[in-house]
Amino acid sequence: MHSSSSSSFFSILLLLLALASMSLATPAARPPIRNYPGGKFCLTDSDVQTIVSGFIDMLENTQDDFNVTLAQTLLADDFSDYSDSINYLKRTPLGAVSFATRQDFIDGQGAQPPFPSVRTLTLFHTCDSIAWRWQGDYAPLWIRGINIFLVNDQKQIQTVFVELNSGAFLKDVGKPECDASIAYYN
Ligand SMILES: *[C@@H]1O[C@H](CO)[C@@H](O)[C@H](O)[C@H]1NC(C)=O
Repeated sequence: MHSSSSSSFFSILLLLLALASMSLATPAARPPIRNYPGGKFCLTDSDVQTIVSGFIDMLENTQDDFNVTLAQTLLADDFSDYSDSINYLKRTPLGAVSFATRQDFIDGQGAQPPFPSVRTLTLFHTCDSIAWRWQGDYAPLWIRGINIFLVNDQKQIQTVFVELNSGAFLKDVGKPECDASIAYYN
């Protein structure tokens, strides 16, 4: 009895050790790197830096400083941008395309007040998609968001899926009723 329970204890210990070493060997879950259909190309880390830096440029430099040449280089001819956060801010229906074309993005994003400073919190990619988590250092509240970029074989952004903290955004642009004191969670 004693020996059987100590041997099953030992088996469980070995199992736990095996599981622990597996979890050490396996990095945190990431989307698998996949080849572009047809194996045409794969984004490099440096391509991804260029794309994300260009996108940050279009958030930080707007109105008279908006770089239309950059937008036309970075965004595909068949560009579209989906965001219920932006639809809410624009008072357009949820689920609608937020910017249906590259020109819509240039007209809409280009006219916004500049984001004070946008920095990367998390960035990783596959051959044709980029996941980017970011923080805009607005005041009094920072704004965090997550973008998914789908990239074409010209290494241009074809589709953006983005959600961001539209409550903090409204508070920052002068809507005090959007203060977080209106708590939902207790
Ligand atoms: C605008 O973007 C283009 C293309 O990336 C670049 O060559 C140019 O230097 C940029 N202009 C400014 C003022 O940053």
